[in-house]
Amino acid sequence: QTMRDFLRELPKCEHHVHLEGTLEPDLLFPLAKRNNVSLPADFPSSAEALHERYNRFADLADFLHFYYIGTNVLLLEQDFFDLAWAYFQRAAAQGLRHAEMFFDPQSHTTRGVALDAVVGGFRRACERAETELGVTSKLIMCLLRHLPVPECLATVQSAQPFFESGTVQGLGLDSAERPFPPELFTECYEQARRFQPELRLTAHAGEEGPASYVTTALDLLGAQRIDHGVRCVEDAALVARLASSDTLLTVCPLSNVRLQVVQHVRELPLQKLLDAGVPFSLNSDDPAYFGGYVLDNYVAVQQAFGWSRQTWARVAGAAVRGSWCDDKRKTELL
Ligand code: HPA
Ligand code: ZN
Repeated sequence: QTMRDFLRELPKCEHHVHLEGTLEPDLLFPLAKRNNVSLPADFPSSAEALHERYNRFADLADFLHFYYIGTNVLLLEQDFFDLAWAYFQRAAAQGLRHAEMFFDPQSHTTRGVALDAVVGGFRRACERAETELGVTSKLIMCLLRHLPVPECLATVQSAQPFFESGTVQGLGLDSAERPFPPELFTECYEQARRFQPELRLTAHAGEEGPASYVTTALDLLGAQRIDHGVRCVEDAALVARLASSDTLLTVCPLSNVRLQVVQHVRELPLQKLLDAGVPFSLNSDDPAYFGGYVLDNYVAVQQAFGWSRQTWARVAGAAVRGSWCDDKRKTELL
C-alpha cells in the first residue's frame, strides 16, 4: 500500500472549504453561458487560461478578485446544488467523510439572489451527499469582512430562520483579513448567538493578519476554532493558550502556498503545532483555485514532512475530534 493510498483511506474531515471556492473553471464557463452572465473583458477566456492564471496569485486580494468574479455566475437554486454536489463527488473520491463548509451569502444577495436559493441548493446537495456518498456535512455562513458592518448585521438578521432551524449551524468571517480585525464584528456574532445559542462560531484569523487577530477572535467573537491561524506561532503565549484550550486551527497548506503566505509547505509550522499540542486539521480552502482537494493537501504535507502512519492517524484523529458533529458520528470516523 502506497502512502497515498493510506492517506486516501484515512477517514478525513474538512472544516475549511468555501463552497464558492469549489467552482472549477469547467463549471464556471458553462454556468456563465447558461445564466447569460458576461465576464470582464480581460478575464481569461478558457478553462486552461484560467487555471494558468490561478497558478500565480500575488496574495489574498489578488485571489479574491477572481473568486468574486466566479461567484457572479451563480444565480439559481440549481446552480448552488450543482456546485456543492460536484464538490462532494470529488472530495468523497479522495476519502472525505465529513465536511463543515463555508458559504458567502453576501456575494449572492448583493446581486439580488435570494438567501433561500443559496441555502436551499446547498442543503439539497448535503442531503444527497449523506444518502449516496455517506458524507455528512454542516453549513457555516460567513460574513464578508470588507463590507460595512451594518450590512453584515443585516445579513445575520436575514439568516435568523436558518440559524433557528439549524439549517445553518455555524458563523464565520472571511474575505480580506487586513485591515478588518475580528472585533469589528462583535455585535454580529452576539446577534447571531441570540438567535441560536447553540450556534458554532469560527473566524478566519492569522492568515495574512497578525497573531493578535487570533486572540481577538477568541476573546471578542467567542470563536471556538480559528481558520488558518498559522501566524499564531509569532506569539508563544497564544500557542500555549490554543493547546491548553484545545482550540482547533483549520490549516490550508496548498492555499497558503498559492497565496504566498509561505513559499513552500515545509515552511508551515505544522511540526511545531504537533509538538506544542495545538490541534489542527488540513483543508482545501478553495480547491478549484488552489490546485487540490483534501487528499491533495494531505499528500503535499506528507511530501514536505514525511510523517509516519502513526503521526498521520493522530492528525486525522484530531480533525475528527475537532469536528462539530455529534459523538456518535465521531466514533464512526475514529
Ligand atoms: N481567506 C479569506 N477569505 C476567503 C478565503 C481565504 O482563504 N477563501 C475564500 N474567501
Ligand atoms: Zn478560507
